[in-house]
Amino acid sequence: MKILIATEKPFSKEAVNEIREICENQGHELVILEKYKEKKELIEAVKDVNGIIIRSDIIDKEVLDAAEELKIVVRAGSGYDNVDLNAATANNICVMNTPGQNSNAVAELVFGMLIYLQRNRFDGSTGSELRSKKIGLHGFGYIGEIVAHIAISFGMEVYAFSPSLSHNPEKGKEHSVVAVLTPEALYDKCEIVSLHIPANEDTKRIINYELMSRLPENGVVVNTARKEIVDEADMVRIMTEKTKFKYITDVKPNNQDEMIEKFGKRYIASAKKCGAQTSEANINAGLAAAHQIVDFFETGNAEFKVN
Ligand code: 3PG
Repeated sequence: MKILIATEKPFSKEAVNEIREICENQGHELVILEKYKEKKELIEAVKDVNGIIIRSDIIDKEVLDAAEELKIVVRAGSGYDNVDLNAATANNICVMNTPGQNSNAVAELVFGMLIYLQRNRFDGSTGSELRSKKIGLHGFGYIGEIVAHIAISFGMEVYAFSPSLSHNPEKGKEHSVVAVLTPEALYDKCEIVSLHIPANEDTKRIINYELMSRLPENGVVVNTARKEIVDEADMVRIMTEKTKFKYITDVKPNNQDEMIEKFGKRYIASAKKCGAQTSEANINAGLAAAHQIVDFFETGNAEFKVN
C-alpha cells in the first residue's frame, strides 16, 4: 500500500524516520508532503495513495474525492474537526485519531503560557502565583486529566466540568478533582479556566459572554483547544468590561489584530499552534498513527475509528 504523510506543520525528522521504518517493514511505501502552501499540492499528492497520516491538515470533500484509492486517514492527534467525516463515510474511508498521544505536551503548554502571562511576560513587574488559585477544567479528557495532575502539584484547587464526569462522579475523585455539574458552576467557582473540549456543532462559540462574565475581574481563560469554541466578539466585550481579565491562547483567533491593539499585555497567542509541537508528542502521535494504519491494512482493526 502507498501511505502519505501530509503535514503542513511537519513532524520532527526522528518521528518521520520511525514512521517510515514501521511502514516499510510491513512492505508499504511511504511518501511525504510537508510544509505545503496550497491545497492543490495536497490534492495532487493524495491521488494514488491508500492511507494518509495528517495533523491539523484540512481533509475536506474535495480532497477526499480526489483520493480515489484512499481507504484510511489517521489524524495524528486528538481533534479531528479538520476532516469531513460525512464525506469520508460516503467514500467508504475510515477516519481515526490517536487519542491521548500528544496530551502531555498540550497540558504542559497550559502552564508554560499561564505562568508567562501571570508573571507579566517576565518583564520584572509584580505578577501572581498559581498556588491556592482555583482552576476550572472545561472538558476532562486525556489532556484535562494531565492538566489536573499538574495543577494539583502547583497547589491549585481543581474543578472540572465534562459530561463524562457528570455520568461518572467517581472519576473526579480518582483524580482529586471537584466535579461540577454545569459549565456555569465551573465559571462561578474559578478564577482560571482551561478549555479542553473539541470543536463541533455543539461546542461552537459556547465560551460566551454569559459564561465568562461569571469569572472574576482578574479571570483568565486559557485556550489550547480550538478557536471556534470561543465567541470572539464576547471575548472582546468581557475584556473591555473586566479590565484585568486575560486571554491566553495557542489557537490564534480571527480578530488577533483587534485583541493585540485593545488588550496589549492581557492577551497572548502562540505564533503557530504549538501545544503538540514537541519531539515527544510527534513521536507518540506519529508512531501511533503509523501502527494504526499498518494494522488496519493487515487485520482490519479499526479501534480508533471516529466516523
Ligand atoms: C490535536 O488535536 O491533537 C492538537 O490540537 C494538535 O494539533 P497539531 O497536530 O496540528 O499540532
